[in-house]
Amino acid sequence: MTNSRLPGFYKLSVDERRRVAAEALGVDVEDLTRALSTGGMDCATADKSVENVIGMYALPFALGLNVQLNGRDYLAPMVVEEPSVVAAASNAARIVRAGGGFFAETDEPIMIAQVQLDEVRDAAAATAAIVAETSTILAEANASVPGLVSRGGGARALEVRDLGDGMLVVHVLVDCRDAMGANLVNTVAEEVAPRLAHLAGGRVGLRILSNLADRRCVRVKACIPVEALAFEGRTGESVRDGIVRASRFAEKDPYRAATHNKGVMNGIDAVVIATGNDWRAVEAGAHAYAARTGKYEPLCTWRIGDDGSLVGELAMPLALGIVGGSIRIHGCARLGLEMTGVQSAAELAMLIGCVGMASNLAALRALATDGIQRGHMLLHARTVAIAVGARGQQVEEVAAEIHARGEVTVEAARRALLRLVAAGGDAGLAVGGE
Ligand code: MEV
Repeated sequence: MTNSRLPGFYKLSVDERRRVAAEALGVDVEDLTRALSTGGMDCATADKSVENVIGMYALPFALGLNVQLNGRDYLAPMVVEEPSVVAAASNAARIVRAGGGFFAETDEPIMIAQVQLDEVRDAAAATAAIVAETSTILAEANASVPGLVSRGGGARALEVRDLGDGMLVVHVLVDCRDAMGANLVNTVAEEVAPRLAHLAGGRVGLRILSNLADRRCVRVKACIPVEALAFEGRTGESVRDGIVRASRFAEKDPYRAATHNKGVMNGIDAVVIATGNDWRAVEAGAHAYAARTGKYEPLCTWRIGDDGSLVGELAMPLALGIVGGSIRIHGCARLGLEMTGVQSAAELAMLIGCVGMASNLAALRALATDGIQRGHMLLHARTVAIAVGARGQQVEEVAAEIHARGEVTVEAARRALLRLVAAGGDAGLAVGGE
């Protein structure tokens, strides 16, 4: 991908967008169309994936544009049902380009295996005994995941934490390379638990990964020249200052921080889902990390730089894989991953971190200026128009009418559609069908 700027992409038909995307990515348009038109999974495969399947559930698959990360361009596949998330993130990523795009880095892909040890009588002696056997325990851990070791990963270190009341927890830090690592880490936890219990003179409790993947964080930074923030008669300075005030609000108030972080996760989850990753794990890690100091805080903050630019910083755990999981069995997840062009889970984490920052920037820019409803209502009007049965061009016309009247309701949409059908004689349309 040499340029993720695809001006006018939103104005094209779905087929035209597929052609443009296939060309931009150098993939075959037929392959792309096949994967996208089936939704990536058939019911028979679904039936083998989870229990009690009775059907499939579709969500829109879209492309986030304009992302420039560490000097390279990326397209961001996004699976999300909420109107405006994709457009807002793409628009914000375009603004960030004025400052050279996003810059990001990640930790090594270290996940934490937790082994709970109960009824430990002497925590200090147990800790010393476990620490003294570190190399044996790590060797045992590695023997349980030979495939990971052959790919350059494996158990790296041990930590013992005394939780009091005779409860110790041992963390085995496992480098999972390009896997998300849940299965690998759970295997390691189960493998080493008996020896740990023996050394501690205690009883084995839980053996499971921690989703607070704080050894696997991504950090994203963007510096936006103040002129790039000016729009619709507003100065760049006023927009910048509004965004910084909004950031301060989230830093001071957990009620606001939760919503601020929801805006970050709008972008994060959309790409996490599109690339076949476990969004519940990512959500759990993000919010636990946001609360790590004992106070729930924003994942992304904004300040004024020395040169007057707007400087954003995002830091959060992102436990992602580009191998294993649903990626193998889901055609759209495979395609989504291919579209990103990433070569490692770390690179995917950096890309996803950028989209999270872009979503947050877009939300704060709107909130600190016009408010969120102006942009949202027209998009919401489209959803309402579709819900009452409008199709094709009717969607735009019904949405425009109810939006202009300031009456974005199902009833108003139904009336607008009836008028349109009567005027156009489109008698075959079932008005009102949800
Ligand atoms: C809506 O999905 C997300 C926002 O509420 C985020 C925010 O308030 O920052 C707009």
